[in-house]
Amino acid sequence: MDYLQLQGSQSISGEIKISGAKNAALPLIAMSILAKNNIQISNLPNVADINTLLTLLSNLGAKCNKETNSVEIDTSKLSQTKATYDIVKTMRASILVLGPILARFGHCEVSLPGGCAIGQRPVDLHLKALEQMGATIDIKSGYIEARAPQGLKGCEIIFDKITVTGTANIVMAAALAHGKTTITNAAREPEVVQLCEILDKSGIKIDGIGTAIITVHGNGGKLIDMIDFSVIPDRIEAGTYLCAGAILNQELTITNAEPKHLGAVLSKFEEMGFGIEHTDTTISILPAEKIKPVKIITQEYPAFPTDMQAQFLALATQADGVSIIEERLFENRFMHVSELQRMGADITLNGHIATISGKSELSGADVMATDLRASSALILAGLVADGITNVHRIYHLDRGYESLETKLQNVGINIKRLKE
Ligand code: UD1
Repeated sequence: MDYLQLQGSQSISGEIKISGAKNAALPLIAMSILAKNNIQISNLPNVADINTLLTLLSNLGAKCNKETNSVEIDTSKLSQTKATYDIVKTMRASILVLGPILARFGHCEVSLPGGCAIGQRPVDLHLKALEQMGATIDIKSGYIEARAPQGLKGCEIIFDKITVTGTANIVMAAALAHGKTTITNAAREPEVVQLCEILDKSGIKIDGIGTAIITVHGNGGKLIDMIDFSVIPDRIEAGTYLCAGAILNQELTITNAEPKHLGAVLSKFEEMGFGIEHTDTTISILPAEKIKPVKIITQEYPAFPTDMQAQFLALATQADGVSIIEERLFENRFMHVSELQRMGADITLNGHIATISGKSELSGADVMATDLRASSALILAGLVADGITNVHRIYHLDRGYESLETKLQNVGINIKRLKE
């Protein structure tokens, strides 16, 4: 197994190029199941989760011709409709194939994703919505078995909770349904917006894109003549590298970014005293005179993202004063706290609220990554810690950050990948 070793208290300078967004690419790859033609996806992040989904599609009979940052997918020979446990257990987002396979073939089996490190994460809302669209759903031997032999029917769906992959799944199912489907309380994340825009440009009319009420005009089951496209920049990767500049309190620029997707994150940097300068595609973070504490509540887009919570928690250890971070989306998303405490952070946890008293002098330690974003918080803490930090179990990190150590090395950070 690999681990990352980094030297703390370093200087950082220069530019980091942001990759395509993993969370946008995943539903877009699943969307290829609905395509009549081969589709070419560029600005694809070269990360493990993308390879996992491409393997899943290949196992189902699709042809995936992947280069480092692009892929051509041909699903014309896709014939299997079962996403098996061995793949789904490694990536919950595999559930994204349920809607499109069911819509195209009238049946689909997907291994039921279990709980994960950050909480229970049920998929009940995906299933309830598909039932409303006329599917029969059974749970048998750990599998979701969905059937809709006559095709799916458009209907009115009201999500009890906003769900990102749930919205994406139902939008894709609705694209091939008979009639129109209205989703109320839809996710408005940029990744969902891109999925809707590509479908809309490919001939599936979608009203209300980017709002909480989306109407998808289904085409009655015909495969779609899909356009080629480039994946939007990863707003979470962007936010993470801005945190690297911030935690070292030095200037850093990220390129190939989309500042419009980072509104809530950039304003938290400003509240903490950092300067932010941006163009259409670059963002620079400028040092703060004094890093101020912050209050953060994670919520659905456009509010502050839960996927940036761990990184800001690490950053708050360097603020002068008491910061409060409230996690509203996942019940168990503070696993990084105990590792940060081992590095000397002063953090009190009370349910889903973390109170961080800064500034703490962190010291390098052996720490263990517990989930994707928790891993990046440990790297950030390692950047300011005194001495050497070894971050173990970085397979979590490799799921979602492309070439993290190379990108950090390029801005002067002493970090290397080693074998246990
Ligand atoms: C997506 C992102 C993940 C991000 C999360 C929240 C992808 C691949 N992953 O995950 O990085 O942290 O959004 O922004 O895009 N819920 C239910 N029932 C359901 C579905 C969800 O109760 O059927 C709950 C979840 O447990 C959670 C909340 O709804 O508490 C939001 O989850 P959801 O938006 O579905 O997260 P994901 O789409 O899995």
